[in-house]
Amino acid sequence: MQVSPDIDKHRSIHHLRSRDKLKMLSIRYISRTSPRVTGALQPTLRLRRTYAIESARMATITEAITKDHGELKHYYNEVIQNPGRHDHQQRFGNQFTWELARHSIGEELVVYPAFERYLGDKGKKMAEDDRKEHHQVKERLKIFQGMKSTDPEYTTKLKEIWDLLSEHIEEEEKRDLVSLESALMNKGEESHELATSFGRTKAFVPTRSHPSAGEHPPFETVMGLLMAPFDRVADVFRKFPK
Ligand SMILES: [Fe+2]
Ligand SMILES: [Fe+2]
Repeated sequence: MQVSPDIDKHRSIHHLRSRDKLKMLSIRYISRTSPRVTGALQPTLRLRRTYAIESARMATITEAITKDHGELKHYYNEVIQNPGRHDHQQRFGNQFTWELARHSIGEELVVYPAFERYLGDKGKKMAEDDRKEHHQVKERLKIFQGMKSTDPEYTTKLKEIWDLLSEHIEEEEKRDLVSLESALMNKGEESHELATSFGRTKAFVPTRSHPSAGEHPPFETVMGLLMAPFDRVADVFRKFPK
């Protein structure tokens, strides 16, 4: 029997709508049956949703990095300023770990190689110092990420990380990125390309600290990325801010 093009079109639209409905139902089903699962999916889903918007409006690599630093400070404050609210602290502590692990590796893969490429010997030294500082932070993050917020040492360990990290962040923002931006020839465009690469890289990197994977590409790239799927599975059992 010949099917009219209109009916055929209608069927395809209907089919598409049914598939979308099924997807929505699956998401709703997961939400209802397993709050743990949706909690873990939340950062990934949010990441996908915001990545397209962010990469379009992100003007420079400095803006991309500085935005992450601001978010890290916010997550840190949510833990420190809410003593006794253990569930809240655990969620924001996990979010802090998740964001810091991705941020660090994104910098190691995209930003530090750019220091070396555009700033010669000065850039190599800057990148090397930054990698050493990352390693110190990652060693501490590795301990913190396994702790429960009910542990009396929980905020102390986080403060130790923040003491090192805040100094490192200040150097990156006030010294390293300023030098990089002024060395980029086609300033706006190259800086925007770096910001785009940084955003893309963060979508694929591990979400937990793996100091033994190192800080130097390409070794870090291979070892770090190998850990990513294991981290995603482990994230299913972690709590994130609602
Ligand atoms: Fe850094
Ligand atoms: Fe940074």
